[in-house]
Amino acid sequence: LDNKKHVELKMDQALLLIHNELLETNLTVYWKSECCYQCLFQFLVNISHGRKPGKPTLAPVSISTQHGSILQINNTLEEKEVCRLEYQFGEFGNYSVLIKHTHNGVSEIACDLVVNKSPVDSNLPVSVAFLVGLAVIIAVSFLRFLLSLEDFNNWVSKAINSQETDHLINSDLGSPGRADPLTGDPQPETRCPSAPGYRLRCLDTFRGVALILMVFVNYGGGRYWYFKHSSWNGLTVADLVFPWFVFIMGSSIFLSMTSVLQRGCSKFKLLGKIVWRSFLLTCIGIFIVNPNYCLGPLSWDKVRIPGVLQRLGVTYFVVAVLELLFAKPIHENCVSDRRFSYLRDITCSWCQWLFILLLESIWLGLTFLLPVPGCPTGYLGPGGIGDLGKYVNCTGGAAGYIDHLLLGSDHLYQHPSSTVLYHTTVAFDPEGILGTINSIVMAFLGVQAGKILLYYKGQTKGILIRFTAWCCVLGLISIALTKVSENEGFIPINKNLWSISYVTTLSAFAFFILLALYLVIDVRGLWTGAPFFYPGMNSILVYVGHEVFENYFPFQWKLEDNQSHKEHLTQNIVATALWVLIAYVLYKKKIFWKI
Ligand SMILES: *[C@@H]1O[C@H](CO)[C@@H](O)[C@H](O)[C@H]1NC(C)=O
Ligand SMILES: *[C@@H]1O[C@H](CO)[C@@H](O)[C@H](O)[C@H]1NC(C)=O
Repeated sequence: LDNKKHVELKMDQALLLIHNELLETNLTVYWKSECCYQCLFQFLVNISHGRKPGKPTLAPVSISTQHGSILQINNTLEEKEVCRLEYQFGEFGNYSVLIKHTHNGVSEIACDLVVNKSPVDSNLPVSVAFLVGLAVIIAVSFLRFLLSLEDFNNWVSKAINSQETDHLINSDLGSPGRADPLTGDPQPETRCPSAPGYRLRCLDTFRGVALILMVFVNYGGGRYWYFKHSSWNGLTVADLVFPWFVFIMGSSIFLSMTSVLQRGCSKFKLLGKIVWRSFLLTCIGIFIVNPNYCLGPLSWDKVRIPGVLQRLGVTYFVVAVLELLFAKPIHENCVSDRRFSYLRDITCSWCQWLFILLLESIWLGLTFLLPVPGCPTGYLGPGGIGDLGKYVNCTGGAAGYIDHLLLGSDHLYQHPSSTVLYHTTVAFDPEGILGTINSIVMAFLGVQAGKILLYYKGQTKGILIRFTAWCCVLGLISIALTKVSENEGFIPINKNLWSISYVTTLSAFAFFILLALYLVIDVRGLWTGAPFFYPGMNSILVYVGHEVFENYFPFQWKLEDNQSHKEHLTQNIVATALWVLIAYVLYKKKIFWKI
């Protein structure tokens, strides 16, 4: 067995032993992932012919287990396919493929798969973590229920005989029926107060959920593929969080701006504040939260210009200024207007909608009509080995081209998620310039949600109907755009491009979630939103903090087995939980980082 070499298995890999029992035929094995859309097969290994009957040549290879695999086994000389195998291998499994003549005749060749050792269950740690989470929730709910019982309360205070402790327990668990410490503005009153008087807890909770998921995903998400971004088209858990964050930002912009204007702050002063905030967000994004830190200081000629905070800054600026320009002093006017009452959400702010439609036309125009040298016009694919390798350097079509042209390749993200499946080589920035247009659209849809919450304040039914309508309309648009297909639609859902179908789909989800949270938290009071609203109220601090301290203990430590999902998942959950705890402590101490 001269081909024998040691194969070191990594996470999400299985061992595959390929046995060539054919006596005259050398074989070449190719591989591709089932999830790689229209991809070229990739060379895996060459195997020379068997030497004697019953003495096959053997080649060990490691093979990815994240998605289903397609193996193509070719005759090396004639480049003719001998056989093809489709199989979903399991992590750390040991498999053999036996390539041999069938008993029927010499011309027939069979490839049989044998499982030597069963794979491990990679998803077990996720299930365990989920069950533990569920157990904690049930335990806390039960404890809260006990504490809400008057008798039990009395018994506890008698038993402990200390009012202090009783008070501590109650306030820490957010026991219902007690005075809530949260009453809005945590900062001293200034001439232009920044916190809204009308604070909905569902917004903070939703922001917190998105943020905490974002922290978990950024820390690695246990290295599971579904907690990482999609390679190109499609949706994973990781792809959900950023747009939701943008959506909530839109709602908050509208609510806080309305409240600040109502308190008599001048529009001009507010504009100054908006400019300053956008500038700060962008600067923090470029100078503080930058992965190029790792390359050493003074690497500014390779610094990444776009980024999450930069995009938030620009989106915030455009949407806030747009709303400020058309803000009416008294909104009740709009609500009492009885004409087109069912279209009120749109007719009330038709100027803004016109502007947003114009922006969206620019996105569509540039994406589908801008000629890109060497690439087909309107290309939306990943390039690399996708599209049968015809457009290797076309990653992201017009969006990628615009960024390369305006910012330069060195200032873009160098490891886009498309490198994983599609083996792309050019830089591509998922927070690029063109996609910012659609994040503005997303934030504007969030503004719309904010308007509904304010205009129909106190009318639960009105809010319910509006949110459901928006959810359905956006859902239908998504269905039409994507044809309910991952890759075959007119505009597939794509996080890297922030395609418009991505925005409509996630806004539909966002309307639904916000509605559910509104009913459960603000209307019914069934849930306080804890622990998510703590980070939701301190989002900038948690976001910047988690990025800056990513590589420090206790957010990261040396793992015993670097290739174990279990250890990574534990580490990432602990780090995420720590940020929730930090946000909680800061909330108790009334420390909020606002910019
Ligand atoms: C995989 O299975 C084969 C056949 O049973 C065995 O010879 C080989 O040692 C196994 N390899 C590993 C790494 O377990
Ligand atoms: C793609 O870019 C690489 C590096 O910039 C270059 O070597 C290669 O020739 C390009 N391929 C095509 C098809 O243009």
